[in-house]
Amino acid sequence: MLPAVDEPMRVFVTREIPEVSLRRLAEGLPGARIDVHRGALPLGPRQLLAAARGASALVCTLSDRIDAALLEALAPPLRVVATFAVGHENIDLDAARRLGVRVANTPGVLTDATAEIAVALLLACARRVAEGDRTVRAGRFAGWSPLAHRGHAIYGSTVGIVGAGRIGFRVAATLHRGFDCRILVHSRSEQQGLDRQRAWRELGAQFVSLDRLLASADFVSLHCPLSPDTRHLIDAKALARMQPHAALVNTARGALVDEAALVEALRAGTIACAGLDVYEDEPRLAPGLAQLENAVLLPHIGSATHAARDAMGRLCADAVIAELSGRAAPNRLV
Ligand code: DGY
Repeated sequence: MLPAVDEPMRVFVTREIPEVSLRRLAEGLPGARIDVHRGALPLGPRQLLAAARGASALVCTLSDRIDAALLEALAPPLRVVATFAVGHENIDLDAARRLGVRVANTPGVLTDATAEIAVALLLACARRVAEGDRTVRAGRFAGWSPLAHRGHAIYGSTVGIVGAGRIGFRVAATLHRGFDCRILVHSRSEQQGLDRQRAWRELGAQFVSLDRLLASADFVSLHCPLSPDTRHLIDAKALARMQPHAALVNTARGALVDEAALVEALRAGTIACAGLDVYEDEPRLAPGLAQLENAVLLPHIGSATHAARDAMGRLCADAVIAELSGRAAPNRLV
Protein backbone atom coordinates (compact mmCIF):
# COMPACT_ATOMS: atom_id res chain seq x y z
CA MET A 1 0.00 0.00 0.00
CA LEU A 2 1.51 3.35 -1.00
CA PRO A 3 0.67 6.45 1.04
CA ALA A 4 -1.68 8.88 -0.70
CA VAL A 5 0.25 11.80 -2.16
CA ASP A 6 -0.96 14.26 0.49
CA GLU A 7 -0.55 11.87 3.45
CA PRO A 8 2.31 12.73 5.81
CA MET A 9 5.19 10.32 6.02
CA ARG A 10 4.61 7.92 8.92
CA VAL A 11 7.03 6.38 11.41
CA PHE A 12 5.76 3.60 13.66
CA VAL A 13 7.52 2.92 16.95
CA THR A 14 6.59 -0.45 18.43
CA ARG A 15 7.25 0.41 22.12
CA GLU A 16 7.59 3.47 24.26
CA ILE A 17 11.26 4.49 23.97
CA PRO A 18 13.07 7.42 25.62
CA GLU A 19 11.38 10.73 24.85
CA VAL A 20 14.68 12.13 23.57
CA SER A 21 14.50 9.80 20.56
CA LEU A 22 10.93 10.78 19.71
CA ARG A 23 11.85 14.48 19.91
CA ARG A 24 14.82 13.84 17.66
CA LEU A 25 12.64 12.03 15.13
CA ALA A 26 10.10 14.88 15.13
CA GLU A 27 12.84 17.48 14.65
CA GLY A 28 14.61 15.50 11.93
CA LEU A 29 11.46 14.70 9.98
CA PRO A 30 9.31 17.85 10.14
CA GLY A 31 5.72 17.10 9.16
CA ALA A 32 6.05 13.35 9.63
CA ARG A 33 3.51 11.50 11.74
CA ILE A 34 5.15 9.55 14.56
CA ASP A 35 2.94 6.88 16.09
CA VAL A 36 4.04 5.01 19.20
CA HIS A 37 2.55 1.85 20.66
CA ARG A 38 2.50 2.84 24.34
CA GLY A 39 1.20 -0.45 25.75
CA ALA A 40 3.18 -2.23 28.46
CA LEU A 41 3.54 -5.38 26.33
CA PRO A 42 4.83 -5.87 22.79
CA LEU A 43 2.30 -6.20 19.97
CA GLY A 44 1.54 -9.66 18.63
CA PRO A 45 2.34 -10.36 14.95
CA ARG A 46 -1.17 -9.51 13.67
CA GLN A 47 -1.43 -6.35 15.77
CA LEU A 48 2.02 -5.28 14.66
CA LEU A 49 1.12 -5.72 11.02
CA ALA A 50 -2.08 -3.72 11.43
CA ALA A 51 -0.40 -0.95 13.41
CA ALA A 52 2.61 -0.61 11.10
CA ARG A 53 0.69 -0.57 7.80
CA GLY A 54 1.49 2.48 5.72
CA ALA A 55 4.64 3.36 7.69
CA SER A 56 7.81 4.34 5.84
CA ALA A 57 9.91 3.53 8.89
CA LEU A 58 9.63 1.14 11.77
CA VAL A 59 11.46 1.49 15.07
CA CYS A 60 11.24 -1.96 16.65
CA THR A 61 12.69 -3.82 19.62
CA LEU A 62 14.11 -7.30 20.14
CA SER A 63 10.64 -8.54 21.15
CA ASP A 64 9.17 -7.89 17.67
CA ARG A 65 9.41 -10.58 15.04
CA ILE A 66 10.32 -8.82 11.82
CA ASP A 67 10.06 -11.76 9.46
CA ALA A 68 9.73 -12.07 5.69
CA ALA A 69 5.91 -12.13 5.79
CA LEU A 70 5.75 -8.89 7.77
CA LEU A 71 8.32 -7.16 5.57
CA GLU A 72 6.56 -8.31 2.40
CA ALA A 73 3.28 -6.93 3.72
CA LEU A 74 4.80 -3.57 4.67
CA ALA A 75 7.26 -2.79 1.88
CA PRO A 76 6.62 -0.52 0.12
CA PRO A 77 6.10 2.01 1.61
CA LEU A 78 8.37 0.62 4.36
CA ARG A 79 11.95 1.74 3.67
CA VAL A 80 13.79 1.35 6.94
CA VAL A 81 13.69 -0.71 10.13
CA ALA A 82 15.72 0.62 13.07
CA THR A 83 15.99 -1.84 15.92
CA PHE A 84 16.44 -0.56 19.46
CA ALA A 85 19.08 -3.24 20.15
CA VAL A 86 22.41 -4.50 19.00
CA GLY A 87 21.20 -8.11 18.57
CA HIS A 88 19.14 -8.55 15.40
CA GLU A 89 18.29 -12.26 15.22
CA ASN A 90 14.59 -11.28 15.26
CA ILE A 91 14.89 -9.59 11.85
CA ASP A 92 15.05 -11.44 8.53
CA LEU A 93 17.94 -9.52 6.96
CA ASP A 94 17.81 -11.54 3.73
CA ALA A 95 14.16 -10.65 3.21
CA ALA A 96 14.90 -7.01 4.01
CA ARG A 97 17.74 -6.97 1.46
CA ARG A 98 15.54 -8.59 -1.17
CA LEU A 99 12.78 -6.04 -0.59
CA GLY A 100 15.11 -3.04 -0.47
CA VAL A 101 14.33 -2.29 3.18
CA ARG A 102 17.29 -0.88 5.10
CA VAL A 103 17.96 -2.20 8.60
CA ALA A 104 20.07 -0.54 11.31
CA ASN A 105 20.89 -1.42 14.92
CA THR A 106 22.51 0.29 17.92
CA PRO A 107 25.97 -1.15 18.57
CA GLY A 108 28.61 0.48 20.77
CA VAL A 109 26.40 2.61 23.01
CA LEU A 110 25.36 -0.26 25.29
CA THR A 111 28.76 -1.90 25.65
CA ASP A 112 29.59 -0.50 29.10
CA ALA A 113 26.10 -1.02 30.50
CA THR A 114 25.93 -4.65 29.38
CA ALA A 115 29.48 -5.40 30.52
CA GLU A 116 28.58 -4.02 33.96
CA ILE A 117 25.64 -6.40 34.25
CA ALA A 118 27.82 -9.36 33.21
CA VAL A 119 30.35 -8.44 35.91
CA ALA A 120 27.53 -7.92 38.43
CA LEU A 121 26.18 -11.41 37.69
CA LEU A 122 29.63 -12.90 37.93
CA LEU A 123 30.18 -11.28 41.35
CA ALA A 124 26.70 -12.31 42.47
CA CYS A 125 27.39 -15.93 41.48
CA ALA A 126 30.87 -16.07 42.97
CA ARG A 127 29.89 -14.54 46.32
CA ARG A 128 26.32 -15.84 46.49
CA VAL A 129 24.92 -12.32 46.72
CA ALA A 130 21.28 -13.01 45.76
CA GLU A 131 21.15 -16.07 48.00
CA GLY A 132 22.50 -14.01 50.91
CA ASP A 133 19.90 -11.30 50.28
CA ARG A 134 17.12 -13.90 50.37
CA THR A 135 18.50 -15.37 53.61
CA VAL A 136 18.42 -12.01 55.39
CA ARG A 137 14.97 -11.01 54.09
CA ALA A 138 13.49 -14.37 55.09
CA GLY A 139 14.72 -13.89 58.67
CA ARG A 140 17.11 -16.85 58.33
CA PHE A 141 20.25 -14.84 59.21
CA ALA A 142 21.24 -16.21 62.62
CA GLY A 143 24.46 -14.20 62.95
CA TRP A 144 27.98 -14.46 61.58
CA SER A 145 29.14 -17.97 60.88
CA PRO A 146 32.60 -19.29 59.93
CA LEU A 147 31.24 -21.81 57.42
CA ALA A 148 28.05 -20.33 56.00
CA HIS A 149 27.75 -18.78 52.52
CA ARG A 150 31.29 -19.42 51.38
CA GLY A 151 31.77 -18.72 47.69
CA HIS A 152 34.68 -18.48 45.28
CA ALA A 153 37.11 -15.59 44.88
CA ILE A 154 37.16 -13.72 41.61
CA TYR A 155 40.62 -12.25 42.26
CA GLY A 156 43.19 -14.30 40.40
CA SER A 157 40.61 -16.64 38.86
CA THR A 158 40.42 -17.76 35.23
CA VAL A 159 37.60 -16.21 33.23
CA GLY A 160 36.48 -17.62 29.87
CA ILE A 161 34.91 -15.14 27.47
CA VAL A 162 32.91 -16.65 24.60
CA GLY A 163 32.70 -14.08 21.79
CA ALA A 164 35.44 -11.52 21.20
CA GLY A 165 33.30 -8.49 20.35
CA ARG A 166 33.00 -5.17 22.16
CA ILE A 167 31.07 -6.37 25.21
CA GLY A 168 33.19 -9.49 25.73
CA PHE A 169 36.29 -7.34 25.54
CA ARG A 170 34.97 -4.82 28.07
CA VAL A 171 34.11 -7.62 30.53
CA ALA A 172 37.55 -9.16 30.06
CA ALA A 173 39.32 -5.81 30.53
CA THR A 174 37.33 -5.03 33.71
CA LEU A 175 38.07 -8.41 35.24
CA HIS A 176 41.72 -8.46 34.22
CA ARG A 177 42.49 -4.90 35.33
CA GLY A 178 40.25 -4.82 38.39
CA PHE A 179 40.49 -8.42 39.65
CA ASP A 180 43.74 -9.70 38.19
CA CYS A 181 41.90 -12.45 36.30
CA ARG A 182 43.54 -14.60 33.67
CA ILE A 183 41.53 -14.33 30.47
CA LEU A 184 40.73 -17.11 28.02
CA VAL A 185 38.75 -16.14 24.96
CA HIS A 186 36.98 -18.13 22.29
CA SER A 187 35.83 -16.57 19.05
CA ARG A 188 34.24 -18.25 16.06
CA SER A 189 35.01 -15.36 13.80
CA GLU A 190 38.35 -15.19 12.04
CA GLN A 191 37.83 -11.51 11.26
CA GLN A 192 39.56 -10.11 14.30
CA GLY A 193 41.16 -6.84 13.19
CA LEU A 194 44.80 -6.30 14.14
CA ASP A 195 43.89 -3.55 16.61
CA ARG A 196 41.48 -5.88 18.35
CA GLN A 197 44.03 -8.67 18.49
CA ARG A 198 46.55 -6.28 20.00
CA ALA A 199 44.00 -5.09 22.58
CA TRP A 200 43.29 -8.68 23.66
CA ARG A 201 47.04 -9.41 23.83
CA GLU A 202 47.49 -6.42 26.13
CA LEU A 203 45.18 -8.20 28.56
CA GLY A 204 47.36 -11.28 28.26
CA ALA A 205 44.30 -13.08 26.86
CA GLN A 206 44.76 -16.46 25.24
CA PHE A 207 42.56 -17.48 22.29
CA VAL A 208 41.53 -21.11 22.86
CA SER A 209 39.01 -23.68 21.65
CA LEU A 210 35.59 -23.69 23.30
CA ASP A 211 36.31 -27.10 24.87
CA ARG A 212 39.51 -25.87 26.45
CA LEU A 213 37.85 -22.70 27.69
CA LEU A 214 34.97 -24.61 29.30
CA ALA A 215 37.32 -27.09 30.96
CA SER A 216 39.73 -24.46 32.33
CA ALA A 217 37.63 -21.44 33.33
CA ASP A 218 36.29 -20.73 36.82
CA PHE A 219 33.78 -18.35 35.26
CA VAL A 220 32.39 -18.49 31.73
CA SER A 221 30.66 -15.43 30.28
CA LEU A 222 28.78 -15.54 26.95
CA HIS A 223 29.04 -12.62 24.51
CA CYS A 224 28.39 -14.02 21.05
CA PRO A 225 25.43 -13.32 18.76
CA LEU A 226 22.62 -15.84 18.41
CA SER A 227 22.52 -17.56 15.02
CA PRO A 228 21.60 -21.05 13.83
CA ASP A 229 25.27 -21.96 14.49
CA THR A 230 25.35 -20.73 18.08
CA ARG A 231 21.90 -21.89 19.20
CA HIS A 232 22.43 -24.19 22.21
CA LEU A 233 26.19 -23.64 22.03
CA ILE A 234 26.08 -24.44 25.73
CA ASP A 235 24.22 -27.74 25.86
CA ALA A 236 24.40 -30.66 28.30
CA LYS A 237 27.74 -31.80 26.83
CA ALA A 238 29.27 -28.34 27.11
CA LEU A 239 28.04 -27.98 30.69
CA ALA A 240 29.57 -31.35 31.54
CA ARG A 241 32.96 -30.03 30.40
CA MET A 242 32.86 -27.19 32.93
CA GLN A 243 34.34 -27.48 36.42
CA PRO A 244 31.98 -28.25 39.33
CA HIS A 245 32.86 -24.98 41.07
CA ALA A 246 32.43 -22.93 37.86
CA ALA A 247 29.71 -20.39 37.09
CA LEU A 248 28.07 -19.57 33.77
CA VAL A 249 26.97 -16.00 32.99
CA ASN A 250 24.74 -15.13 30.04
CA THR A 251 23.94 -11.53 29.13
CA ALA A 252 23.79 -12.16 25.35
CA ARG A 253 20.84 -14.24 24.14
CA GLY A 254 18.98 -16.93 26.05
CA ALA A 255 18.96 -19.51 23.27
CA LEU A 256 22.77 -19.74 23.35
CA VAL A 257 22.11 -22.04 26.30
CA ASP A 258 19.94 -25.14 26.42
CA GLU A 259 17.99 -23.90 29.43
CA ALA A 260 16.49 -27.28 30.35
CA ALA A 261 20.00 -28.80 30.36
CA LEU A 262 21.21 -25.90 32.48
CA VAL A 263 18.50 -26.53 35.08
CA GLU A 264 19.61 -30.17 35.25
CA ALA A 265 23.29 -29.19 35.55
CA LEU A 266 22.54 -26.73 38.37
CA ARG A 267 20.43 -29.30 40.19
CA ALA A 268 23.04 -32.03 39.81
CA GLY A 269 25.95 -29.79 40.80
CA THR A 270 27.64 -30.23 37.42
CA ILE A 271 28.36 -26.50 37.73
CA ALA A 272 28.03 -24.33 40.82
CA CYS A 273 25.95 -21.40 39.63
CA ALA A 274 24.43 -19.53 36.69
CA GLY A 275 23.85 -15.81 36.36
CA LEU A 276 21.30 -15.07 33.65
CA ASP A 277 19.96 -11.84 32.22
CA VAL A 278 18.41 -13.51 29.15
CA TYR A 279 16.24 -16.58 28.56
CA GLU A 280 15.45 -18.98 25.76
CA ASP A 281 11.77 -18.08 25.55
CA GLU A 282 11.49 -14.67 27.24
CA PRO A 283 9.72 -13.81 29.42
CA ARG A 284 9.04 -17.49 30.26
CA LEU A 285 11.62 -19.49 32.21
CA ALA A 286 12.46 -23.18 31.86
CA PRO A 287 10.57 -25.25 34.47
CA GLY A 288 12.48 -25.38 37.74
CA LEU A 289 14.87 -22.50 37.01
CA ALA A 290 13.20 -19.97 39.32
CA GLN A 291 13.28 -22.44 42.22
CA LEU A 292 17.05 -22.94 42.11
CA GLU A 293 19.06 -21.24 44.87
CA ASN A 294 22.17 -21.36 42.69
CA ALA A 295 20.73 -19.31 39.81
CA VAL A 296 20.82 -15.51 39.81
CA LEU A 297 18.08 -14.23 37.52
CA LEU A 298 17.69 -10.74 36.08
CA PRO A 299 14.93 -9.43 33.76
CA HIS A 300 17.03 -8.67 30.62
CA ILE A 301 18.46 -5.37 31.88
CA GLY A 302 21.93 -5.44 30.31
CA SER A 303 21.47 -2.13 28.51
CA ALA A 304 19.12 -0.61 31.09
CA THR A 305 20.97 2.54 32.11
CA HIS A 306 19.46 5.94 31.36
CA ALA A 307 22.52 6.87 29.29
CA ALA A 308 22.58 3.68 27.20
CA ARG A 309 18.85 3.64 26.51
CA ASP A 310 18.86 7.34 25.52
CA ALA A 311 21.80 6.71 23.21
CA MET A 312 20.08 3.67 21.66
CA GLY A 313 17.02 5.81 21.00
CA ARG A 314 19.11 8.55 19.42
CA LEU A 315 20.80 6.03 17.11
CA CYS A 316 17.40 4.66 16.04
CA ALA A 317 16.13 8.16 15.31
CA ASP A 318 19.29 9.02 13.38
CA ALA A 319 18.98 5.82 11.32
CA VAL A 320 15.39 6.58 10.35
CA ILE A 321 16.11 10.24 9.57
CA ALA A 322 19.17 9.34 7.49
CA GLU A 323 17.51 6.61 5.43
CA LEU A 324 14.34 8.61 4.80
CA SER A 325 16.50 11.55 3.73
CA GLY A 326 18.42 9.46 1.21
CA ARG A 327 21.56 8.95 3.33
CA ALA A 328 22.98 5.75 4.81
CA ALA A 329 22.14 5.05 8.46
CA PRO A 330 25.17 5.16 10.77
CA ASN A 331 24.82 1.46 11.69
CA ARG A 332 23.27 0.02 8.56
CA LEU A 333 23.18 -3.79 8.60
CA VAL A 334 21.68 -4.18 5.11
C1 DGY B 1 20.50 -5.84 22.69
O1 DGY B 1 20.73 -4.67 22.37
O2 DGY B 1 20.61 -6.76 21.88
C2 DGY B 1 20.08 -6.07 24.10
O3 DGY B 1 19.79 -7.37 24.38
C3 DGY B 1 18.92 -5.18 24.46
O4 DGY B 1 19.42 -4.22 25.26
